[in-house]
Amino acid sequence: MQQSTQVAIIGAGPSGLLLGHLLARAGIHNVILERHSAEHVLGRVRAGILERTTVDLLDQAGLAERLHRESLVHDGIYIAFDGQRQHIDLKGLSGHAVVVYGQTEITRDLMSARAAAGLVTHYEASGVALHDFQNGQKPWLSYLRQGKPQELHCDFIAGCDGFHGVARHSVPPDAIRTFERTYPFGWLGVLADTPPVAPELVYAQHPRGFALCSMRSKTRSRCYLQCSLTDSVEQWSDELFWAELRSRLDPVSAAALQPAPSIEKSIAPLRSFVAEPMRFGKLFLAGDAAHIVPPTGAKGLNLAVSDVRYLAEGLIEHFRERSRVGLDHYSARALRRVWRAERFSWAMTRLLHSFPDQGSFDHKLQQAELDYLFSSRAAQTALAENYVGLALDA
Ligand code: APR
Ligand code: PHB
Repeated sequence: MQQSTQVAIIGAGPSGLLLGHLLARAGIHNVILERHSAEHVLGRVRAGILERTTVDLLDQAGLAERLHRESLVHDGIYIAFDGQRQHIDLKGLSGHAVVVYGQTEITRDLMSARAAAGLVTHYEASGVALHDFQNGQKPWLSYLRQGKPQELHCDFIAGCDGFHGVARHSVPPDAIRTFERTYPFGWLGVLADTPPVAPELVYAQHPRGFALCSMRSKTRSRCYLQCSLTDSVEQWSDELFWAELRSRLDPVSAAALQPAPSIEKSIAPLRSFVAEPMRFGKLFLAGDAAHIVPPTGAKGLNLAVSDVRYLAEGLIEHFRERSRVGLDHYSARALRRVWRAERFSWAMTRLLHSFPDQGSFDHKLQQAELDYLFSSRAAQTALAENYVGLALDA
């Protein structure tokens, strides 16, 4: 079957769904092709910290009603190290708070809004392939639905298909440059119905490895442990997880920890990755398809949202005013923000993790950095303004 649309979007994660929503509100027709089922997409547990620019955009797009009802506003974070827990007053230092709301919930809200607006998403679309996006012709996608070949013709393709997606891999190798750092550890995450150990997130630096106590609500916690890349989830019973978490926390947080059965448990490797540019003719990459940050800075979703905002602006300008300016600037504009978030996420990762190859000199530097952070308002302000999110450029 042959179909056509103005913008063909690959991937129904937060990037693809939000782009589709912003375009449809501006009267631009779009179709989303997603490899998995909606249930599968909603089954993935991801991070949950939203910057104010992310919340503002969701608000303006009419997507934040449930978010305002169910989210938690946090004015600060704790950093635990050396047997104590210190507070970073994000709001006092930067003027802004952050919002705690699971990315899975954002995806759910976006899917509901898309269904309510009657917009088309083809789930379980397999074998998506990109054609004619770089040669000045009209681009199109081929794919299979229930085993039957399909074609989707379009003016533009948006590759919102995550790190393992097909879009970035369809670009000729000589047209793309990638920058990557992998880290010699992963994060073991557990979701459990137990109250958070503190009213705000606790990031812990400890000789046994990093730990994080985050939350989804006042009764549901999301906690992480730095683990070895060779670890498997089966090796980590719930008992072992909570005992190890307790051993890495400061005494006040440790005393508040109430172990509970895990609802979800998974291991994710840590990676920094950027692909440049983010535009190839009539193909645009957005979100994890173009870049990955380690989760320590809580930037992944927020960066996806800022990409999508810039891309939607460019596409709307193109269709409304026949102007190419926004699209021509998309890649440079998005990458500038991406690299600043990459820098911050890398710095937070380095500050708080134990690196297996770390010598005694590196360890001393890490301690000195934490000591400096808590003796300098300027250093705390720098952390705070990056954590709450840098302003979007005009
Ligand atoms: N064809 C169709 N869909 C695909 C294909 C493909 N070949 N490959 C991947 N996808 C789908 C995935 O199944 C997934 O649903 O693309 C979607 C990409 O979604 P995400 O990985 O969530 O990426 P993105 O929407 O950019 O979200 C960025 O999610 O991973 C986190 O940390 C990240 O918070 C950030 C946010
Ligand atoms: C989470 O809640 O899952 C979370 C919060 C902060 C991070 C990473 C993950 O830095």
